[in-house]
Amino acid sequence: MQEKNMKGIILAGGSGTRLSPLTKVTSKQLLPIYDLPMIHFPLETLRQAGIVDILFIVAPDHAGDFLKYLGSGKDFNCHFSYEIQDKPQGIAQAFQIGKDFIDEDNVALILGDNLFEDDFSQSIQSFKTGGRIFAKKVADPERFGVVEFDEQNRAISIEEKPSNPKSNYCVTGLYIYDNTVVEKVKNLDFSPRGELEITDLNNLYLKEGSLDVAFVEGAWFDTGTFESMFEATQLIRDRRLAK
Ligand code: DAU
Repeated sequence: MQEKNMKGIILAGGSGTRLSPLTKVTSKQLLPIYDLPMIHFPLETLRQAGIVDILFIVAPDHAGDFLKYLGSGKDFNCHFSYEIQDKPQGIAQAFQIGKDFIDEDNVALILGDNLFEDDFSQSIQSFKTGGRIFAKKVADPERFGVVEFDEQNRAISIEEKPSNPKSNYCVTGLYIYDNTVVEKVKNLDFSPRGELEITDLNNLYLKEGSLDVAFVEGAWFDTGTFESMFEATQLIRDRRLAK
């Protein structure tokens, strides 16, 4: 069987209400983290792993700002495509919107507000089939998707923002899937909050025994709040000054 290519999707829609009033003038994912727009960091994570064919999914309001900053991809030695997500109806909707772009290939989805220190080249390049997600130990798991492990450290369940988390390991915003993701999202229903949930998609892979849960070793930020933007800015500033 011929090896499948790995495409990349950066999901950068949503309304960014938690960062209002900054998000009145542009998208959350274009706000600065020290000296670069937030979206630059997930883009670098994909590029570092050798992914060059990248789809940006953006909200209608500030779509032009993304085009202005990112362009065709030529300046990044990549090829960029764009799609609009009319309403924020869930992270998993990215695979419906991106169906034609994914075509016959595998796909790595990264959230446009996630900043990772790790290099995922090995995890992405070694990927063959199923799904692969990345967990990180956090102090406030109830804010995230949470993975439960059995005694052999095998993942047995994933719950979205549980009030009683079964572990301290949250699911971070990088997801790698084989081409069956395009079929799998067709079987998802909207959750009570009106979204196609990424956690439901991960549970489909988990149920068929093909979900691999790896771990994030370095720093990770979901920069969707003022506090986490500030912490991420400090980390990047420290890195720049240490050079
Ligand atoms: O950051 C990791 C977490 O991301 C995971 O642990 C959770 O399982 C996952 O649901 C997600 O939780 P969040 O509460 O951070 O999701 P949020 O709605 O803030 O969306 C994350 C990013 O994705 C945000 O930058 C906006 C974008 N987004 C989100 C949705 C729901 C879209 O572009 N479109 C959407 O429809």
